[in-house]
Amino acid sequence: MAPPTVLVTGGAGYIGSHTVLEMLNAGYNVICVDNLCNAYSGGASKLPEALSRVQEITGKKIHFYRVDITDREQVRSVFQEHKIDMVAHFAALKAVGESCRIPLQYYHNNMTGTNVLLEAMADNNVFKFVYSSSATVYGEPKFLPVTEEHPTGNCTSPYGKTKYFTEEILKDLCKSDKRWAVVSLRYFNPVGAHISGRIGEDPNGEPNNLMPYIAQVAVGRRPKLSVYGSDFPTKDGTGVRDYIHIVDLAEGHVKALDKLRNIAETGFFAYNLGTGVGCSVLELVHAFERASGQKVTYELVDRRSGDVATCYADAKLAEQALGWKATRGIDKMCEDTWRWQSQNPNGYAQK
Ligand code: NAD
Ligand code: WQD
Repeated sequence: MAPPTVLVTGGAGYIGSHTVLEMLNAGYNVICVDNLCNAYSGGASKLPEALSRVQEITGKKIHFYRVDITDREQVRSVFQEHKIDMVAHFAALKAVGESCRIPLQYYHNNMTGTNVLLEAMADNNVFKFVYSSSATVYGEPKFLPVTEEHPTGNCTSPYGKTKYFTEEILKDLCKSDKRWAVVSLRYFNPVGAHISGRIGEDPNGEPNNLMPYIAQVAVGRRPKLSVYGSDFPTKDGTGVRDYIHIVDLAEGHVKALDKLRNIAETGFFAYNLGTGVGCSVLELVHAFERASGQKVTYELVDRRSGDVATCYADAKLAEQALGWKATRGIDKMCEDTWRWQSQNPNGYAQK
């Protein structure tokens, strides 16, 4: 039987590129679309740099189209060109603070984009879908660890709401038509890089997230890290999160695709992708210093609005249902981030 073909949206981004790599290694054919609004392109006709490096690492070919998923015609043309079996949907805008400033762009890109994609799928008889969801759908945890049964929808930012609303759309879709099989993967805090050091996280401008900020301080691109809040009710007063290695996360997607490919069961399924282990900001800073041999200068400042004290996953359901479990710990996350950051101090822009 021919290997299944997966359409990957947002495949040139951080999580998409790492997942494409694992999908190719697992034998899937991959078609990528991305509008490159948050990914580095080496030039108009070239494959985006991250995907070019994934091809180099795997020795396998990626079909790439510069397509905006909110553009119905562009999306349809990809379905006409290729016989697609499944879709893994990463394309989204993801900056929490920015989403509060420009909510309409977030709702258009993330919600309309997803609707256009789902309609094109249905028109082409493709009903297997893996969605990039987020622990943000849980809002402030009411209990810990956070299971998939935890109520969703109490999100404060427009970004978080796009993740929650999209899950609701997907649930309605599965109720309306029993051909749909949807796996929504709720990521906790993805960090790290592929072991090769060739691909990694390359944020535009000042990083919003902790790990890329630490890495840029360590490599000398930024003078110091601001630690947001040291008076949380946690072990050392700083925020506690469930960091998950990007390669574990990517492997979770392959397991989800394997499940959709092999079983006849349909409906909506949500799984946490996390480690189940909470790590504080200062623990991550110190682990990074050990892994890199660099000093990470930091300053304790006020809390960032909207941040919760503690959030970590119960990841048992993914283990039972997908046969997936994160295996890489904090030290490995820091070691691999440092390999990427030190070999590519300015990200993809500098080869
Ligand atoms: P990213 O920005 O690196 O990747 C997203 C990719 O989608 C980018 O390459 C961007 O150019 C592309 N894109 C955005 N809008 C598009 C559009 N309209 N048409 C085509 N391409 C478009 O982000 P990431 O960290 O890789 O996140 C991937 C997914 O995972 C997103 O859906 C995000 O919401 C979700 N997620 C991320 C995190 C995280 O911490 N990184 C956590 C939970 C969930
Ligand atoms: C982690 C910890 C900060 C930066 C966000 C989104 C969430 C999801 C993942 C997509 C917190 C502290 C951070 C800094 C700091 N994304 N911090 N100094 O906030 O858990 O989750 O990314 O779905 O929706 O909200 O991740 O990496 O921003 O913060 O002290 O410069 O690091 O206060 O305790 P967060 P983060």
